[in-house]
Parts: sequence; C-alpha cells; structure tokens
Amino acid sequence: WVLMVTAQTPTNIAVIKYWGKRDENLILPINDSISVTLDPNHLCTTTTVAVSPSFKQDRMWLNRKEISLSGGRYQNCLREIRNRACDVEDKKKGIKILKEDWGKLHLHIASYNNFPTAAGLASSAAGFACLVFALAKLMNLKEDQSQLSAIARQGSGSACRSLYGGFVKWIMGKEENGSDSLAVQLTDEKQWDDLVIVIAVVSSRQKETSSTSGMRESVKTSLLLQHRAKEIVPKRILQMEEAIKNCDFTSFAQLTCADSNQFHAVCMDSCPPIFYMNDTSHRIINIAEKWNRSEETPQVAYTFDAGPNAVLIARNRQTAALLIQRLLYYFPPNSDDLNSYVIGDKSIL
Ligand code: DP6
Repeated sequence: WVLMVTAQTPTNIAVIKYWGKRDENLILPINDSISVTLDPNHLCTTTTVAVSPSFKQDRMWLNRKEISLSGGRYQNCLREIRNRACDVEDKKKGIKILKEDWGKLHLHIASYNNFPTAAGLASSAAGFACLVFALAKLMNLKEDQSQLSAIARQGSGSACRSLYGGFVKWIMGKEENGSDSLAVQLTDEKQWDDLVIVIAVVSSRQKETSSTSGMRESVKTSLLLQHRAKEIVPKRILQMEEAIKNCDFTSFAQLTCADSNQFHAVCMDSCPPIFYMNDTSHRIINIAEKWNRSEETPQVAYTFDAGPNAVLIARNRQTAALLIQRLLYYFPPNSDDLNSYVIGDKSIL
C-alpha cells in the first residue's frame, strides 16, 4: 500500500525584511519581519508526500530531479515532524499506522515550483512551508498553524510566513530553543483585497550569493545591520501593523520601499559588499519613485529580495493596469532587460 497527501503553498514577499540570524542551526532571526502571501495560482510549490512499507529510504525530487535529503535543514524538519506524528487510519484502504511505526517507515517526496528556483522569488519559503504542511497532514499532527510555522522556520526562515494567507508577522522570539519564534496572521487574505502584486522578472538566473550566506556575511561585518535590527525595525513593525490594519496605502508604500532600500544598503555595507539589484532594478525604482511623486499619494510600492526581480504592489486593479502600461513603455516586449510579468492578488494557502 501507499498513503499520499498533496499540498499547494504560495510564496510570500517580505515588506519588512528578515536579514540576519542569531542562531544558524535553529534559524532564529535578529528582528521581526512582516510579509504578504501571494495567490497560490501564481507563484507556488506543489508537494506530494507518500509513505509505504516498500520504500527503503527517504527520497526527494525537486522539479523532477532527485535531491539529497541529508542536509541539516531537511533533517531538522523531518525529525521535528516525526517526533509529533500520531496514529493514522484509512479504513477504506484498510491501512493503520500507529504513531510508534512512523520512525520505521520511509517517505518519498516530490515537489514542484511553478517559478524559477533560487532567483530571489522566495522559492525556499513556499518549498519548506509546503513540505511541512503536507507531512503534518500525512502524519496527522495535532499542532496548529503557528506551531507548524516554527517547524517550517527550521527549513528556511522565510518559510514560516507562508503557512498563512494575507499579511503575516514572524515574531523573532526570545527563547534560546526557538519555541517562541513563529508566525502569526495579522489580517487574512479577504481584508485589503484591492492590492495587486506585480512581479517584474528581471532575471530568472540563480543568484550568486544565497540569502543564507549573504545574511551570514552581513551579521559578521555590517554595523548598519546592528543599528537596523535594534533601532529601526522595531518601530517600523509597529507602523507597518498600523498601516495594514487601517489599509493606509501611503504609509504602507513608504515603509515597504524604505525597508527594501535599507536592506540593500545593509548588503552594500557588508564586507565584501553584496549586490542583489542590477541596473534594471534601479531603473524600476526610479520609475516607481517618479510616478509616486507626480501624484498626490503613492500609487505603487516596490520591494526587492535577494535578487534583481522587482515586486511591485499596486494600490488597486486600476493602478496595476497603469503600472503594467508604464513598464511596457520603458521595457517594450522582447526587451532584454525584462523577461516577464507575473501578476498575483495577495492570497492564501
Ligand atoms: C531577503 O529565508 O531565504 O527574502 O533562513 O537562510 O533560508 P534562510 O534565508 P531566507 O531569507 C530570506 C531573506 C529575504 C527577506 C525576507 O524574506 O524576509
């Protein structure tokens, strides 16, 4: 027999960034962060997990290629989930797995991203969130989403925020064992649903410096990072929560753009400096800034993760249409600088 579960999880984009760990193994951050979860129809991971007595070892395929599960991050997630596994019974198939049997059974995992892996589109976020969610369903875990987020966090920090839709806060926590470093939902995907997210894919190539090694260098060498984590982010988190609660786009856009720019300033303040954005990214920032300045209130927010792709958040559908018109004007079809646009409403697991 084989027992299977399939889950689909969208990626999330931070509007107040996580950058820097205080514990590398448990993945504990040096500041809180806030993100918005995308529509699963646009950027998502689909993962099928299967268990069978005929499987001889744990195996995983990512985008149809077999990958190793020996890394600490996968092992940490698998161990945490197996430790919490419960009895499972499928009466139709006549299958009964007792909780003590899970340690002896092996898993096959197949995961598929519908967007470029490791190109700064937060694929690890959707990937680990989906893996943890699917395994939790298969093994009948009793933990709630927040507790599951603390397991996904041990796969990749940003993954903990993809367990919820809408706006999500990752609370950094204080405990050394990481038990209070988890995600909570600020507002669900039905609130503030006129926002539209447009992703301008500047490059789908794999990035040169991974987030993991980039933030390690920043923690070691950047003084700006220390100042940001202690003095700037705590205030910004409160302001961002207020902006989200009130659907205040002007404050939201100001905070989002400022935080993205400061994150990239921290990268440049690291030694050696890290450059994630390129000339096209800078041009997109200029286009958005000029447009916002020419109107009474900001129309679009921009944010860039560890790569050159622009995530643009438009005030509403009408603004999103104008935004795409503008992008097409500056980057005509077939332009070498921009590959495609991905459009997503903010959304949910
Ligand atoms: C710039 O979550 O990919 O996207 O925890 O080492 O796996 P690890 O890093 P990761 O870092 C994401 C960094 C970011 C900002 C963010 O998503 O908050």
